[in-house]
Amino acid sequence: MSETTPTPAGTPVIELRNVSKTFGEVRSLSGIDFAVYPGEIVGLLGDNGAGKSTLVKTVMGFHRPDPGGEIWFNGKLIDDWSVARARDLGIETVYQERALCEKQPIWRNMFMGREPRTKWGLLDVKKMRSESARLMSEHMGFTSAAVHPDNVVSTMSGGEKQGVAITRALYFDANLVILDEPTMGLSLTETGKTLDFVRNIKAVGKSAIFIDHNIFHVYPVVDRLYVLDRGKVAGVYDKTQISMEDLIDRLYRVARTGSLT
Ligand SMILES: Nc1ncnc2c1ncn2[C@@H]1O[C@H](COP(=O)(O)OP(=O)(O)O)[C@@H](O)[C@H]1O
Ligand SMILES: [Mg+2]
Repeated sequence: MSETTPTPAGTPVIELRNVSKTFGEVRSLSGIDFAVYPGEIVGLLGDNGAGKSTLVKTVMGFHRPDPGGEIWFNGKLIDDWSVARARDLGIETVYQERALCEKQPIWRNMFMGREPRTKWGLLDVKKMRSESARLMSEHMGFTSAAVHPDNVVSTMSGGEKQGVAITRALYFDANLVILDEPTMGLSLTETGKTLDFVRNIKAVGKSAIFIDHNIFHVYPVVDRLYVLDRGKVAGVYDKTQISMEDLIDRLYRVARTGSLT
């Protein structure tokens, strides 16, 4: 663990205590303590195989921790953690852009799987279009007439698509948004846009876990950072306490020696 990282105030939205995860002979996570507090963006860094995906899949409910591990949500121990439970509690994951339907208009994507209906039980297309237009101008900064809710997703840039995915998660009252390498395959400009959307999550008072192996993407937007190494937390940093140069230096040291000291 790192030296004297201050713990943020309040009760974590999500907290893992002593979480381990074993697959047969492979121990992917080992005694993980991890927390995300309200309104913070937490970065998750680590080399391939460090356990990042296993950790977030545990938060998402795909994996149950080995006996002895605990998952707490808003200060309550949850003993029947599952995908359905995590979703009920407002944990939303933004996958790669392929989670959107390319051939469908933006408004359709915005409400995919949770379409509002009229009192006659029909799809409320009018509402979906007007709400999409509102979200796009208020939350996504799309003021140009060129980006209209009726546009099909395939006409959008990668960064704009991530914007739709993130805005959708926030609209449906996500408490915690999980972003698994959201900048993968994006150009520099699109990456910049995506990072702005990540900042917006914080601006509306929600929390996020941001996974990326590119520290240049992670560092500017996060409040705190966890470094994972071979299934263990190798360091926790408050961004105000470590410069990017220092962090890079430490990451190299972890990669070389498995230790931060
Ligand atoms: N379902 C699984 N079955 C067996 N081993 C797994 C499984 N998921 C992950 N692992 C192993 O756990 C370790 C951590 O993997 P992962 O969480 O995907 O790391 P990361 O996302 O940081 O690259 C790796 O050694 C990986 O092979
Ligand atoms: Mg992974």
